[in-house]
Amino acid sequence: MRVHVADHPLITHKLTVLRDRTTHSPVFRALTEELVTLLAYEATRNVRTETVDIETPVTSTTGLAISQPRPLVVPILRAGLGMLEGMVKLLPTAEVGFLGMVRNEETLEPTTYAERLPDDLSDRQCFVLDPMLATGGSLGAAIEFLFDRGAVDVTAICLLAAPEGIAALEKATEGRDVTIVLGAMDERLDENGYIVPGLGDAGDRLYGLV
Ligand code: URA
Repeated sequence: MRVHVADHPLITHKLTVLRDRTTHSPVFRALTEELVTLLAYEATRNVRTETVDIETPVTSTTGLAISQPRPLVVPILRAGLGMLEGMVKLLPTAEVGFLGMVRNEETLEPTTYAERLPDDLSDRQCFVLDPMLATGGSLGAAIEFLFDRGAVDVTAICLLAAPEGIAALEKATEGRDVTIVLGAMDERLDENGYIVPGLGDAGDRLYGLV
């Protein structure tokens, strides 16, 4: 598993505003979108391309185009939904599938409650969106779900991660082609499974308490 922590002052600035408890949902949503677009730039560095011949107004030349089958973007419901617009802004031709994972707050175990994905993901490059890599349980289960459907490589974009979650995910995805792109690596998890210093519950902060 490769872990890439984006190191850029704009990302740190935007994350700092996100972390601030006084930042309300509308600003939180807008900043999440902007952050994901910046992280998507890193995450798509190895997006599959093919050579194409084109005519400019001046001459013939060759360039690159994103290959078929198109990349698949998979936001993990619900908080990952807040990352979708920022991702498709950069990758507008991607297909979008959905995976609903919920964490049991007592056992911290993930379960799938919704799924809308192609049956066959062989040859698909998959980009998973999940803002908080805390225990790594739900992201690990989501990544495994995609590999079970035939995906060959998966890149996850997360705003924040805890070292405990990265270690768990590394173990769970051993032997798989997995890349994690992060806005920041935080200090630790607290006793309730929250990332410290973190930003609280990303779903609540995006959408309010439901
Ligand atoms: N999920 C969140 O939304 N926040 C955390 O800190 C951990 C998991």
